Amino acid sequence: MNAANIKVQLKLFLLVATRPLVLTPRHEYKRSHDYSAGFVKADKSYHEGYHASFDKRPGRKMIWEFEQAILRKIVEDSPAQTHLDFAGGTGRIAKVLEDFVPQQFVLDISEGMLAVAAQHLTKAKILNCDFSKGVPEIEDNSLDLVTAFRFFPNAEVELRESAMAFLVQKMQCGGKLVCNNHRSFWSLSYLLSRLLFKGGDVGMANNEMEALAKRHGLVLQKYYSVGVVPQNENKSLFSWALTQKIENYFFKHFLSKQRLGYNTIFVFEKLIKA
Ligand SMILES: C[S@@+](CC[C@H](N)C(=O)[O-])C[C@H]1O[C@@H](n2cnc3c(N)ncnc32)[C@H](O)[C@@H]1O
Repeated sequence: MNAANIKVQLKLFLLVATRPLVLTPRHEYKRSHDYSAGFVKADKSYHEGYHASFDKRPGRKMIWEFEQAILRKIVEDSPAQTHLDFAGGTGRIAKVLEDFVPQQFVLDISEGMLAVAAQHLTKAKILNCDFSKGVPEIEDNSLDLVTAFRFFPNAEVELRESAMAFLVQKMQCGGKLVCNNHRSFWSLSYLLSRLLFKGGDVGMANNEMEALAKRHGLVLQKYYSVGVVPQNENKSLFSWALTQKIENYFFKHFLSKQRLGYNTIFVFEKLIKA
């Protein structure tokens, strides 16, 4: 093989090797069915299994511990009075914040998810409703803290928009929205999946999350990125012990200095009255 041939072969190789990285089209997580209806229809074992999975799946458990530390730090640094855990499901986020806020609401469309929440939450007023039909229990411009975890990247585009509009309407000026993108399209985990043709073509880009919040008048205050080592909730590129060490290191030194993790937690602030 002559030098020109080698060059052509090399170019071809690079084209094929980088295709999944740059050209794979991004799909929404839910392509063909109704995200909200799925949770409403699911049975008790699904709801209980979902709650238990944060203790059972090694990757989910590790990331959940980081999320808890981040949530506590946010409310310690900036105490809140009235908290809504939006799409709060089985109440794991509300539980962490329970002792930090005097008033708390958990809103979710799924009765079954909320039944699990009701078993362990002591403070929250539980609202089983579809937010798009109005929520008179929560006054407009009243909330100073809203959390929305594992919701936006999963939801259909229209649902994301209407949910964000609803939340901003209920938030007071200076109020914070803490939400996450747990399907970060440009994370190392998703990039490697695409490179190996093992998926990674669903999810949400972090800049989409920011653009969504900005369209509704929120300003990014801070972000935290966790889950840097290529992994999913059950498997990691390395052993879980080594993964934990690397993640701890990133958590300590680079938590808000990179966006390579598959889970980004955002803190947005409402600066104007809706
Ligand atoms: C993946 S779970 C997340 C639950 C919880 N936030 C957490 O992080 O564990 C998504 C939740 O969104 C809720 N949900 C979906 N569509 C909704 C809607 N239109 N209004 C309120 N909740 C909704 C589901 O019922 C489900 O409990």
